[in-house]
Formats: sequence, C-alpha cells, structure tokens
Amino acid sequence: MRIAVIGLAGVGRIHVEKVNSMKETELTSVCDIIPEIAIKTGEKFGVKAYKSAEEMLDKGKPEGVILATPPKSHYPITKMSAERGIHVLAEKPMASNVEDCQRMIQVCKENGVTLMVGHKKRFVPVLVRMKKLIDGEFGQIQYMIHRYPHPWLSDKDWFWREDDGGGPILENAVHATDILGFLMGDIERVSAEGGTFFAPHRKPQIDCAVYTLKFRSGAIATVGAGMVSMPAFNFEDFYMANENGVAEISGQFDSVENLRYSFRSKPDEINEEKYPDADAFANEIRHFMECSETGKKPVASGEAGMKAVAICRAVKKSAESGKPVYIQNN
Ligand SMILES: NC(=O)c1ccc[n+]([C@@H]2O[C@H](COP(=O)([O-])OP(=O)(O)OC[C@H]3O[C@@H](n4cnc5c(N)ncnc54)[C@H](O)[C@@H]3O)[C@@H](O)[C@H]2O)c1
Repeated sequence: MRIAVIGLAGVGRIHVEKVNSMKETELTSVCDIIPEIAIKTGEKFGVKAYKSAEEMLDKGKPEGVILATPPKSHYPITKMSAERGIHVLAEKPMASNVEDCQRMIQVCKENGVTLMVGHKKRFVPVLVRMKKLIDGEFGQIQYMIHRYPHPWLSDKDWFWREDDGGGPILENAVHATDILGFLMGDIERVSAEGGTFFAPHRKPQIDCAVYTLKFRSGAIATVGAGMVSMPAFNFEDFYMANENGVAEISGQFDSVENLRYSFRSKPDEINEEKYPDADAFANEIRHFMECSETGKKPVASGEAGMKAVAICRAVKKSAESGKPVYIQNN
C-alpha cells in the first residue's frame, strides 16, 4: 500500500521509518509545514517532500495517509484526505474535541474510506494477550488500578494548549483511557481530581490527575496519569481482579511486556508470561493497511477514538468542577 506521512518532527519520524522498512508498504511522500524538516526527511528516504498537505495529497497520490500532526489539525487534514478517497490513520488523540471526532467519522463514512486512530496500545502483544484472557478463561475485569505516569515533561506549546493537545490528560492519558475501554468496555461515569504541580508555568492547564471510572458493566477502575514521573522511575502497570482471579501487567512506560495471573481456583499457581520487543507501530500500520484494503472496521476505530477523547474531556471537566461527569451516548 502506498502511504504518505504528514508531520515529521516527532512520532512522524517513527511512522516514516516503519512505512519505509515494511515490505507491505511503500512510502510515497512526506509533508511538514516546516520546509527544512520536510526536505531533510524527503532526502533521507528518497521520496518527494511537500510543505502543504493539500498539495501532497493531490500530487503524491497516496492510498493512505498517516497524520502525525497536532490534534487540532486532524479534522481538516482528514477531510482533505477523505474527499480525495485516501484512507486515514490519525495519531491519538483523534482530535482536540468530540465535535471534530464526529466530523472525522462522518466525512470518512461519506467518502467510503477507512478511519483509524493511532491507539498503539491495542497492538501491544501483552495487552492483546490480556484481552484474549478477558474474553476467555479469565473473564471480565471487575476491578482495575492503572498507573500511567509519564516520565518527563513535554515542552511543546501546542501540547499544553486547551484547544489543541489539551495538556497531559488529553494528549497522553488518552492512551490509558483508550486501553481501559479496550479491556473493560464502555464508561458511564468519571470522577477526577487534578492539579498543576510539575509544570507551574503551564497553568491553568492541569499536568496530572487521579480519577475513577465506573463502567456500564458495573466494573470500576482507578487511574493515575499525567506528567508526574522521572526517567529513573520509568514504569507503567495494570492490576486487575475479578471473581475468577488476579492479573498484573507491567513494564517500562509505553512498553509493557510482563504478565502474571492466577486463578482463585488454583491459588498456588502463578502463570508468568513475557512479550518483549513489541513493535506496536508496525502492527498498527499493518492493521491500517488490512482494513483499508478489505473494508474491515479497525480495532482502533474512529468511534473508539472519539470515546477516548470524550472520557479525557470528562476527566478534565470533573477535575475542574469537583463533580462526577456522566458520559452520554457512549
Ligand atoms: N502514538 C504515540 O505513541 C505518540 C507519540 C507521540 C506523539 N503522538 C501524537 O502524534 C501527534 C504529533 O505529535 P508529535 O509529538 O510528533 O508532535 P511534534 O510537534 O513533534 O511534530 C508535529 C509536526 O507536525 C508538523 N505540522 C503541524 N501542523 C501541520 C500541518 N497542518 N501540515 C503539515 N505538518 C504539520 C509540525 O511542523 C511538526 O514538525 C499528536 O497527535 C501526538 O499526540 C503519538
């Protein structure tokens, strides 16, 4: 599949390298509004570079496009792509707000193109394994504690702007929100507390939150997220339980690989599994390609991406108001 990448400074570099190195994909062109970045990347990979997304979509004729630009730009670029019949893989968060997410879903539907969101955790092998256990012998999770402390502060202005990245709770904790949705289903109610303790120069944006989630199934979860940690304390974990047993997933931040679980019926047995070297970005791109070619609905669909944005916005609203927020139409 012929794929172009838009936005080349940060995660876009990873996408460019993956698309270029995978045998199933061909990197057709690259784009960044900063001409030097576009030219340098184009030269490095031997493809045409553009500074305008519109021009690239018209001239580069990709079949699919990866949006690795800040969230505020995801809707306008998705619209331009969909109207040209080009499939879209938009990085997370899907957009800055739910309304843009809705527009993205609509325009892709109208034009019959695939819309997928870069919720890479859905492609991390240990989390995929846990989802299989949940759908199988382990059963639905009833209780979850998820620690997701980002180990450094972002210095990107768009990241902290409320109408763009929305700060760490939208930009980063959207991963935590989405993966809990993947593992545990739809969320009914959010109660949060937040603060600005680590990036006071970014006030009034909050840089961290602790929140509880009540799921439609009745399950409960608590999450600790935000830009709170340090590189020396680089970790992430999930502790889960239900009437059948207990499970734990752990590892480095954004690269969990260890699974331990035990059944209450066999209290002396602990099962330990390890899933190292997960290439979630490559798995994600392969899935995007498969969905674009077959019309299959992506595991990380536009609807899932929109739910994650709605929950993150609810976390921020609850932290601001001190009141629980009920999620509509989830
Ligand atoms: N999946 C992940 O693990 C992961 C990791 C990091 C970032 N992201 C997401 O990727 C997106 C980008 O984040 P980043 O950290 O790479 O940002 P960044 O600021 O490092 O890079 C974004 C690039 O996009 C370019 N750009 C902005 N608007 C553009 C436009 N309209 N047309 C063309 N180029 C444009 C900028 O010039 C910049 O070079 C965000 O949505 C972010 O949340 C995802």
